[in-house]
Amino acid sequence: MAVGSVPADGAGRRPNEANRKLKYISLAVLVVQNASLILSIRYVRTLPGDRFFATSAVVMAEVLKLITCLLIILVQKRGNLKEMALFLYDHIVVQYADTLKLAVPSLIYTLQNNLQYVAISNLPAATFQVTYQLKILTTALFSVLMLRKTLSKLQWLSLLLLFLGVAIVQVQQEGKKESVSESSDQNYTVGLVAVVVSCLSSGFAGVYFEKILKGSAASVWVRNVQLGIFGTALGLLGMWWKNGEEVAEHGFLFGYTPAVYSVILNQAFGGLLVALVVKYADNILKGFATSFSIIVSTVTSIYLFAFQVDLLFSAGAALVMGAVYMYSLPKAGTPAAPPPPPSKEDSLIPKSVLID
Ligand code: C5P
Repeated sequence: MAVGSVPADGAGRRPNEANRKLKYISLAVLVVQNASLILSIRYVRTLPGDRFFATSAVVMAEVLKLITCLLIILVQKRGNLKEMALFLYDHIVVQYADTLKLAVPSLIYTLQNNLQYVAISNLPAATFQVTYQLKILTTALFSVLMLRKTLSKLQWLSLLLLFLGVAIVQVQQEGKKESVSESSDQNYTVGLVAVVVSCLSSGFAGVYFEKILKGSAASVWVRNVQLGIFGTALGLLGMWWKNGEEVAEHGFLFGYTPAVYSVILNQAFGGLLVALVVKYADNILKGFATSFSIIVSTVTSIYLFAFQVDLLFSAGAALVMGAVYMYSLPKAGTPAAPPPPPSKEDSLIPKSVLID
Protein backbone atom coordinates (compact mmCIF):
# COMPACT_ATOMS: atom_id res chain seq x y z
CA MET A 1 0.00 0.00 0.00
CA ALA A 2 1.32 3.42 -0.89
CA VAL A 3 2.40 5.62 1.95
CA GLY A 4 -0.49 7.71 3.11
CA SER A 5 -3.18 5.65 1.35
CA VAL A 6 -6.20 5.10 3.52
CA PRO A 7 -7.71 1.65 4.05
CA ALA A 8 -11.40 0.90 4.27
CA ASP A 9 -12.59 0.48 7.83
CA GLY A 10 -13.90 -2.74 9.39
CA ALA A 11 -17.32 -2.26 7.79
CA GLY A 12 -15.80 -1.79 4.34
CA ARG A 13 -16.51 1.92 4.27
CA ARG A 14 -14.01 4.48 3.02
CA PRO A 15 -13.35 7.36 5.40
CA ASN A 16 -15.15 10.45 4.32
CA GLU A 17 -13.74 12.16 1.30
CA ALA A 18 -13.48 15.55 3.01
CA ASN A 19 -11.09 14.13 5.62
CA ARG A 20 -8.89 12.54 2.91
CA LYS A 21 -8.72 15.78 1.00
CA LEU A 22 -7.91 17.73 4.15
CA LYS A 23 -5.06 15.31 4.87
CA TYR A 24 -3.31 15.87 1.53
CA ILE A 25 -4.08 19.57 1.33
CA SER A 26 -2.74 20.14 4.85
CA LEU A 27 0.43 18.17 4.05
CA ALA A 28 1.07 20.04 0.79
CA VAL A 29 0.48 23.43 2.37
CA LEU A 30 2.80 22.45 5.25
CA VAL A 31 5.67 21.93 2.77
CA VAL A 32 5.37 25.47 1.43
CA GLN A 33 4.62 27.02 4.84
CA ASN A 34 7.61 25.34 6.51
CA ALA A 35 10.07 26.44 3.85
CA SER A 36 8.78 30.00 3.76
CA LEU A 37 8.73 30.33 7.58
CA ILE A 38 12.40 29.37 7.97
CA LEU A 39 13.47 31.68 5.16
CA SER A 40 11.40 34.60 6.34
CA ILE A 41 12.54 34.33 10.01
CA ARG A 42 16.12 34.22 8.77
CA TYR A 43 15.47 37.24 6.60
CA VAL A 44 13.90 39.42 9.33
CA ARG A 45 16.46 38.41 11.98
CA THR A 46 19.48 39.21 9.83
CA LEU A 47 18.29 42.58 8.51
CA PRO A 48 20.20 45.63 9.78
CA GLY A 49 18.26 48.11 11.93
CA ASP A 50 15.92 47.78 14.93
CA ARG A 51 15.39 44.18 15.89
CA PHE A 52 11.92 43.19 17.11
CA PHE A 53 11.61 41.12 20.29
CA ALA A 54 11.25 37.47 19.32
CA THR A 55 9.41 36.87 22.62
CA SER A 56 6.69 39.37 21.64
CA ALA A 57 6.37 37.72 18.21
CA VAL A 58 5.73 34.37 19.94
CA VAL A 59 2.94 35.97 22.02
CA MET A 60 1.41 37.59 18.91
CA ALA A 61 1.38 34.25 17.07
CA GLU A 62 -0.38 32.57 20.03
CA VAL A 63 -3.01 35.32 20.18
CA LEU A 64 -3.60 35.05 16.42
CA LYS A 65 -4.06 31.26 16.66
CA LEU A 66 -6.44 31.71 19.56
CA ILE A 67 -8.56 34.29 17.72
CA THR A 68 -8.63 32.14 14.56
CA CYS A 69 -9.83 29.07 16.48
CA LEU A 70 -12.49 31.10 18.30
CA LEU A 71 -13.74 32.47 14.96
CA ILE A 72 -13.88 28.96 13.49
CA ILE A 73 -15.90 27.74 16.48
CA LEU A 74 -18.20 30.75 16.08
CA VAL A 75 -18.77 29.84 12.41
CA GLN A 76 -19.51 26.26 13.46
CA LYS A 77 -22.11 27.62 15.88
CA ARG A 78 -23.62 29.62 12.99
CA GLY A 79 -22.61 32.94 14.53
CA ASN A 80 -24.51 32.24 17.76
CA LEU A 81 -22.30 33.84 20.44
CA LYS A 82 -24.33 32.42 23.33
CA GLU A 83 -24.06 28.88 21.97
CA MET A 84 -20.32 29.35 21.50
CA ALA A 85 -19.85 30.71 25.03
CA LEU A 86 -21.75 27.75 26.54
CA PHE A 87 -19.76 25.31 24.40
CA LEU A 88 -16.44 26.83 25.48
CA TYR A 89 -17.53 27.04 29.12
CA ASP A 90 -18.34 23.34 29.06
CA HIS A 91 -15.13 22.27 27.28
CA ILE A 92 -12.69 24.59 29.03
CA VAL A 93 -14.07 25.36 32.50
CA VAL A 94 -16.34 22.41 33.38
CA GLN A 95 -13.88 19.90 31.95
CA TYR A 96 -10.95 21.74 33.52
CA ALA A 97 -8.93 18.57 34.14
CA ASP A 98 -8.94 17.99 30.38
CA THR A 99 -7.88 21.61 29.77
CA LEU A 100 -5.00 21.30 32.23
CA LYS A 101 -3.53 18.43 30.19
CA LEU A 102 -2.76 20.96 27.45
CA ALA A 103 -0.54 23.00 29.77
CA VAL A 104 2.28 20.51 29.19
CA PRO A 105 2.61 20.77 25.37
CA SER A 106 1.84 24.46 25.60
CA LEU A 107 4.79 25.12 27.90
CA ILE A 108 7.06 23.05 25.68
CA TYR A 109 5.88 24.68 22.44
CA THR A 110 6.34 28.16 23.93
CA LEU A 111 9.93 27.27 24.78
CA GLN A 112 10.40 25.70 21.34
CA ASN A 113 8.94 28.68 19.47
CA ASN A 114 11.37 31.00 21.27
CA LEU A 115 14.31 28.66 20.69
CA GLN A 116 13.46 28.52 17.00
CA TYR A 117 14.23 32.23 16.74
CA VAL A 118 17.53 31.71 18.59
CA ALA A 119 18.50 28.82 16.29
CA ILE A 120 17.57 30.53 13.03
CA SER A 121 19.29 33.76 14.07
CA ASN A 122 22.56 31.85 14.59
CA LEU A 123 22.59 29.20 11.86
CA PRO A 124 22.32 29.32 8.07
CA ALA A 125 18.73 28.58 7.01
CA ALA A 126 19.58 25.33 5.23
CA THR A 127 21.72 24.03 8.14
CA PHE A 128 18.87 24.72 10.55
CA GLN A 129 16.39 22.95 8.29
CA VAL A 130 18.48 19.80 7.93
CA THR A 131 19.54 19.60 11.60
CA TYR A 132 15.96 20.17 12.72
CA GLN A 133 15.05 16.93 10.91
CA LEU A 134 16.48 15.14 13.96
CA LYS A 135 13.01 15.74 15.40
CA ILE A 136 11.87 12.75 13.35
CA LEU A 137 14.17 10.63 15.54
CA THR A 138 12.89 12.15 18.77
CA THR A 139 9.31 11.79 17.53
CA ALA A 140 9.96 8.10 16.84
CA LEU A 141 11.47 7.56 20.28
CA PHE A 142 8.61 9.29 22.07
CA SER A 143 6.08 7.40 19.91
CA VAL A 144 7.62 4.10 21.03
CA LEU A 145 7.66 5.20 24.67
CA MET A 146 4.34 7.02 24.91
CA LEU A 147 2.12 5.56 22.16
CA ARG A 148 3.66 2.06 22.33
CA LYS A 149 4.30 2.13 18.59
CA THR A 150 6.66 -0.55 17.24
CA LEU A 151 9.28 0.19 14.60
CA SER A 152 10.48 -2.19 11.88
CA LYS A 153 14.21 -2.89 11.34
CA LEU A 154 14.03 -0.76 8.21
CA GLN A 155 12.66 2.13 10.22
CA TRP A 156 15.45 1.87 12.82
CA LEU A 157 17.96 1.75 9.94
CA SER A 158 16.41 4.83 8.42
CA LEU A 159 16.85 6.63 11.75
CA LEU A 160 20.57 5.79 11.66
CA LEU A 161 20.78 7.18 8.13
CA LEU A 162 19.05 10.27 9.36
CA PHE A 163 21.71 10.73 12.02
CA LEU A 164 24.42 10.21 9.42
CA GLY A 165 22.91 12.74 7.05
CA VAL A 166 22.61 15.37 9.78
CA ALA A 167 26.18 14.61 10.94
CA ILE A 168 27.54 15.13 7.41
CA VAL A 169 25.89 18.51 7.20
CA GLN A 170 27.39 19.39 10.59
CA VAL A 171 30.88 18.39 9.41
CA GLN A 172 30.40 20.47 6.31
CA GLN A 173 29.36 23.46 8.44
CA GLU A 174 32.23 22.91 10.91
CA GLY A 175 34.65 23.94 8.18
CA LYS A 176 32.87 27.28 7.81
CA LYS A 177 32.35 27.82 11.53
CA GLU A 178 35.31 30.11 12.17
CA SER A 179 34.65 32.36 9.26
CA VAL A 180 30.99 32.69 10.32
CA SER A 181 31.77 33.64 13.94
CA GLU A 182 34.49 36.04 12.87
CA SER A 183 32.43 37.78 10.26
CA SER A 184 29.22 38.32 12.26
CA ASP A 185 27.58 38.20 15.67
CA GLN A 186 26.15 34.75 14.96
CA ASN A 187 27.12 31.99 17.36
CA TYR A 188 27.07 28.53 15.78
CA THR A 189 27.21 26.63 19.11
CA VAL A 190 24.28 28.57 20.58
CA GLY A 191 22.30 27.89 17.41
CA LEU A 192 23.14 24.19 17.55
CA VAL A 193 22.13 23.78 21.22
CA ALA A 194 18.86 25.63 20.50
CA VAL A 195 18.05 23.37 17.57
CA VAL A 196 18.83 20.14 19.50
CA VAL A 197 16.63 21.18 22.44
CA SER A 198 13.92 22.14 19.90
CA CYS A 199 14.12 18.61 18.43
CA LEU A 200 13.56 17.07 21.86
CA SER A 201 10.65 19.36 22.62
CA SER A 202 9.11 18.92 19.16
CA GLY A 203 9.18 15.12 19.49
CA PHE A 204 7.70 15.08 22.97
CA ALA A 205 5.07 17.77 22.45
CA GLY A 206 4.05 16.36 19.04
CA VAL A 207 3.48 12.86 20.41
CA TYR A 208 1.78 14.17 23.57
CA PHE A 209 -0.57 16.30 21.45
CA GLU A 210 -1.27 13.36 19.09
CA LYS A 211 -2.13 11.20 22.10
CA ILE A 212 -4.55 13.78 23.51
CA LEU A 213 -6.12 14.57 20.12
CA LYS A 214 -6.67 10.99 19.00
CA GLY A 215 -7.61 9.73 22.46
CA SER A 216 -10.68 11.94 22.87
CA ALA A 217 -13.63 13.31 20.96
CA ALA A 218 -12.85 17.02 21.49
CA SER A 219 -12.27 18.93 18.25
CA VAL A 220 -8.91 20.15 17.05
CA TRP A 221 -10.17 23.76 17.37
CA VAL A 222 -11.13 23.33 21.03
CA ARG A 223 -7.75 21.72 21.69
CA ASN A 224 -6.04 24.68 20.09
CA VAL A 225 -8.09 27.16 22.11
CA GLN A 226 -6.91 25.33 25.25
CA LEU A 227 -3.34 25.32 23.92
CA GLY A 228 -3.59 29.02 22.97
CA ILE A 229 -4.81 30.12 26.40
CA PHE A 230 -1.76 28.59 28.07
CA GLY A 231 0.50 29.58 25.17
CA THR A 232 -0.45 33.26 25.46
CA ALA A 233 -0.02 33.30 29.25
CA LEU A 234 3.31 31.47 29.12
CA GLY A 235 4.53 33.53 26.18
CA LEU A 236 3.80 36.74 28.12
CA LEU A 237 5.66 35.33 31.10
CA GLY A 238 8.63 34.50 28.88
CA MET A 239 8.58 37.99 27.38
CA TRP A 240 8.46 39.62 30.81
CA TRP A 241 11.32 37.43 32.01
CA LYS A 242 13.60 37.90 29.00
CA ASN A 243 12.73 41.31 27.56
CA GLY A 244 10.52 42.88 30.27
CA GLU A 245 12.52 46.07 30.72
CA GLU A 246 13.17 46.61 27.01
CA VAL A 247 9.50 46.05 26.14
CA ALA A 248 8.48 48.53 28.88
CA GLU A 249 10.90 51.06 27.40
CA HIS A 250 10.40 50.59 23.65
CA GLY A 251 6.92 49.01 23.48
CA PHE A 252 5.53 45.59 22.56
CA LEU A 253 5.57 46.34 18.83
CA PHE A 254 9.15 47.70 18.73
CA GLY A 255 10.88 46.88 15.43
CA TYR A 256 7.73 45.46 13.85
CA THR A 257 7.74 45.92 10.08
CA PRO A 258 5.36 44.46 7.47
CA ALA A 259 7.91 41.63 7.03
CA VAL A 260 7.78 40.85 10.77
CA TYR A 261 3.97 40.80 10.70
CA SER A 262 4.07 38.37 7.80
CA VAL A 263 6.45 36.06 9.72
CA ILE A 264 4.08 36.09 12.70
CA LEU A 265 1.09 35.36 10.46
CA ASN A 266 3.05 32.53 8.87
CA GLN A 267 3.98 31.05 12.26
CA ALA A 268 0.40 31.18 13.54
CA PHE A 269 -0.91 29.62 10.33
CA GLY A 270 1.81 26.94 10.52
CA GLY A 271 0.84 26.03 14.08
CA LEU A 272 -2.76 25.43 13.08
CA LEU A 273 -1.57 23.43 10.06
CA VAL A 274 0.53 21.18 12.31
CA ALA A 275 -2.56 20.50 14.42
CA LEU A 276 -4.55 19.55 11.30
CA VAL A 277 -1.75 17.36 9.93
CA VAL A 278 -1.45 15.49 13.25
CA LYS A 279 -5.23 15.03 13.28
CA TYR A 280 -5.75 13.93 9.67
CA ALA A 281 -2.36 12.34 8.94
CA ASP A 282 0.26 11.72 11.62
CA ASN A 283 3.66 12.87 12.81
CA ILE A 284 5.45 10.61 10.30
CA LEU A 285 3.76 12.16 7.28
CA LYS A 286 4.46 15.53 8.85
CA GLY A 287 8.15 14.55 8.72
CA PHE A 288 7.78 13.78 5.04
CA ALA A 289 6.31 17.20 4.34
CA THR A 290 9.03 19.03 6.25
CA SER A 291 11.79 17.09 4.49
CA PHE A 292 10.44 18.27 1.14
CA SER A 293 10.53 21.77 2.50
CA ILE A 294 14.31 21.39 2.93
CA ILE A 295 14.68 21.22 -0.84
CA VAL A 296 12.45 24.23 -1.30
CA SER A 297 14.25 26.39 1.30
CA THR A 298 17.75 25.25 0.23
CA VAL A 299 17.15 26.11 -3.39
CA THR A 300 15.66 29.44 -2.37
CA SER A 301 18.59 30.13 0.00
CA ILE A 302 20.98 29.90 -2.93
CA TYR A 303 19.28 32.94 -4.45
CA LEU A 304 18.42 34.89 -1.29
CA PHE A 305 21.41 34.45 1.03
CA ALA A 306 24.18 33.26 -1.32
CA PHE A 307 24.27 29.98 0.61
CA GLN A 308 26.72 27.64 -1.10
CA VAL A 309 25.66 24.06 -1.64
CA ASP A 310 28.67 21.76 -1.99
CA LEU A 311 28.92 18.01 -2.46
CA LEU A 312 28.94 17.24 1.28
CA PHE A 313 25.85 19.31 1.97
CA SER A 314 24.04 17.68 -0.96
CA ALA A 315 25.05 14.18 0.23
CA GLY A 316 23.86 14.92 3.79
CA ALA A 317 20.58 16.42 2.64
CA ALA A 318 19.99 13.47 0.26
CA LEU A 319 20.60 11.00 3.12
CA VAL A 320 18.14 12.83 5.34
CA MET A 321 15.47 12.75 2.69
CA GLY A 322 16.15 9.12 1.76
CA ALA A 323 15.87 8.22 5.46
CA VAL A 324 12.56 10.02 5.81
CA TYR A 325 11.27 8.07 2.82
CA MET A 326 12.50 4.72 4.21
CA TYR A 327 11.02 5.47 7.62
CA SER A 328 7.66 6.13 6.03
CA LEU A 329 7.51 2.84 4.09
CA PRO A 330 4.70 0.62 5.42
CA LYS A 331 5.84 -2.33 7.54
CA ALA A 332 5.56 -5.71 5.74
CA GLY A 333 2.29 -7.46 6.64
CA THR A 334 1.09 -4.63 8.84
CA PRO A 335 -1.88 -2.62 7.64
CA ALA A 336 -1.57 1.12 7.96
CA ALA A 337 -3.25 2.60 11.02
CA PRO A 338 -6.87 3.53 10.37
CA PRO A 339 -7.54 7.23 9.96
CA PRO A 340 -9.17 9.14 12.80
CA PRO A 341 -12.97 8.97 12.89
CA PRO A 342 -14.55 11.84 11.02
CA SER A 343 -15.37 14.56 13.53
CA LYS A 344 -17.98 17.10 12.64
CA GLU A 345 -16.53 19.54 15.19
CA ASP A 346 -13.25 19.59 13.26
CA SER A 347 -14.84 20.85 10.10
CA LEU A 348 -15.01 24.53 9.21
CA ILE A 349 -18.54 23.97 7.98
CA PRO A 350 -21.56 24.27 10.32
CA LYS A 351 -22.80 20.82 11.45
CA SER A 352 -26.10 21.00 9.62
CA VAL A 353 -24.35 21.29 6.23
CA LEU A 354 -22.14 18.23 6.77
CA ILE A 355 -23.02 14.94 5.15
CA ASP A 356 -20.98 11.88 6.15
O1 C5P B 1 8.54 21.75 14.46
P1 C5P B 1 7.27 21.27 15.01
O2 C5P B 1 6.47 20.48 14.05
O3 C5P B 1 7.39 20.61 16.34
O4 C5P B 1 6.47 22.63 15.27
C1 C5P B 1 5.23 22.62 15.82
C2 C5P B 1 4.67 24.03 15.78
O5 C5P B 1 3.27 23.98 15.69
C3 C5P B 1 4.99 24.85 17.02
O6 C5P B 1 5.24 26.16 16.60
C4 C5P B 1 3.70 24.82 17.84
O7 C5P B 1 3.52 26.00 18.59
C5 C5P B 1 2.67 24.68 16.75
N1 C5P B 1 1.49 23.92 17.13
C6 C5P B 1 0.29 24.59 17.32
N2 C5P B 1 -0.83 23.89 17.62
C7 C5P B 1 -0.76 22.54 17.76
C8 C5P B 1 0.43 21.85 17.58
C9 C5P B 1 1.55 22.57 17.25
O8 C5P B 1 0.24 25.80 17.21
N3 C5P B 1 -1.89 21.92 18.06
